[in-house]
Amino acid sequence: MDNSGCRRRQRLVLFPIPFQGHINPMLQLANILHSNGFSITIIHTNFNSAYTSNYPHFTFRPILDNDPKVNNLSKLGSRGAGDILSGVVLLNQYGEESLRQELDQMLMASKQEQEPIVCLITDALWYFTQSVADSLKLPRIVLRTSSLLCFLVFASVPFLDDQGYFKQVNSLFDEEIIDSDLKNIILASDKNKFKKTGSVKSVKDLEERVLEIPVLKVKDISKMKIKGQTDPSAKILAKMVTQTKASSGIIWNSFKELEEPELEKIHKEFPIPSFLIGPFHKYFPASFSSLLEPDRSFITWLDEQAPNSVLYISFGSASQMEKQDFMEVANGLANSKQKFLWVMREGFVKGSEWVEGLPDGFLDLVGERGRIVKWAPQQEVLAHRSTGGFWTHSGWNSTLESICEGVPMICSPFWGDQPLNARFVSDVLKVGVYLENGWEREEIAGTIRRVMVEEESEDIRERAMCLKEKVNVSLMKGGSSYESLGSLVGYISSL
Ligand code: UDX
Repeated sequence: MDNSGCRRRQRLVLFPIPFQGHINPMLQLANILHSNGFSITIIHTNFNSAYTSNYPHFTFRPILDNDPKVNNLSKLGSRGAGDILSGVVLLNQYGEESLRQELDQMLMASKQEQEPIVCLITDALWYFTQSVADSLKLPRIVLRTSSLLCFLVFASVPFLDDQGYFKQVNSLFDEEIIDSDLKNIILASDKNKFKKTGSVKSVKDLEERVLEIPVLKVKDISKMKIKGQTDPSAKILAKMVTQTKASSGIIWNSFKELEEPELEKIHKEFPIPSFLIGPFHKYFPASFSSLLEPDRSFITWLDEQAPNSVLYISFGSASQMEKQDFMEVANGLANSKQKFLWVMREGFVKGSEWVEGLPDGFLDLVGERGRIVKWAPQQEVLAHRSTGGFWTHSGWNSTLESICEGVPMICSPFWGDQPLNARFVSDVLKVGVYLENGWEREEIAGTIRRVMVEEESEDIRERAMCLKEKVNVSLMKGGSSYESLGSLVGYISSL
């Protein structure tokens, strides 16, 4: 859709968080807005900078960590991509002055160029940008890269904490007698063992639904890996929520038919304009925002496989796995007897460089019935006729990409929004199975077979295909995302 018409060109400044799952949707959004007549400037950190040459139609401006004199920010790159929390805190803490100066210069230049900057669009996690935008009288619109449900849950952390949900789950985890194995046992619903010993008395049933957010089970709260409202990550989320409320609007990478009840709640609790224009990647299917080079050497092999016969496995760009869990995954996969394409990033397994932790004999399977790569062109793989299932960490981009291709999921979330997405996919959408009892080879093998070949897989696939159809309708003229994009373009133009 192109609403550019012949109106005067306006410039938008977009500012992504420098992590893969946030860069992708921001650059996709930039393309969508550019094709609707806006000029685009992307401001970015040098740390995890996108390949700017893939976007000759945008202007790029490095900020924050490009001044060697600013010690706090130039340290960012040395912390490693895995340390997302401290990276986000650091940039929010020290970025204000740099951003203000940069925007000030841009605003002055834009006046001379007769191309006014009409708004700043930043990732919701850049909460420090609201006060900068306010001080320059520049409207700020927020891009939230995850689901509406996730935002509502994050906004409810203090309330859920006051209700005792975090205390009840975490008091278990804080007791010294409960080591990490025992935590797994609890999460594996084997809590009766604990009850018998009398060591745990006041635990809400982990399998019960959260009264106030019935989509969730009590145990999903602990899986976010937040320890309550005083936890550092909860403080970041609280600032994100407050500064989103103070913004001029929210753009969501979601679509109305996917999250209708959640949208109603968002309208009530966040009375600023909300635009559900997703899934973004459907507008421009080719992805150029990958930080790693995708390996395409397996495509010929994938072409030769039967329809829906290959399980695609990827746990996203940031999660890491313990060695013993990795062994369970590999053995479960071997025992499932299914074909597979497995994305294993370097450093994904803690303490290993790459595949050296695999069990003896596993690599013989690779070649016979599988392939392992360091990074894949994920959207292309999911759209491939041979791909029959996606074993995912339930990052929101991966979840949407799977939904768009009608591919059933196996969900193995690690932290943050992922357990919420996993619950939503399995219990609400019913287009996937949540592997919720930890990493255990027999259960893994059984679940893979359930999703790939057993009778149940047909029902899951049918529901997934129905959902895929809903996505397509929402993007067509008259569809919800199409109309919402029109409203967004009109809204930005009127600022
Ligand atoms: C992170 C969090 O994990 C996630 O929960 C949150 O919603 C966004 O930030 P990430 O772990 O990167 O995201 O997962 P996800 O949101 O799924 O994004 C990964 C992106 O990388 C997807 O767009 C996917 O297509 C891409 N990808 C992944 C590849 O291009 N190739 C791969 O091999 C793997």
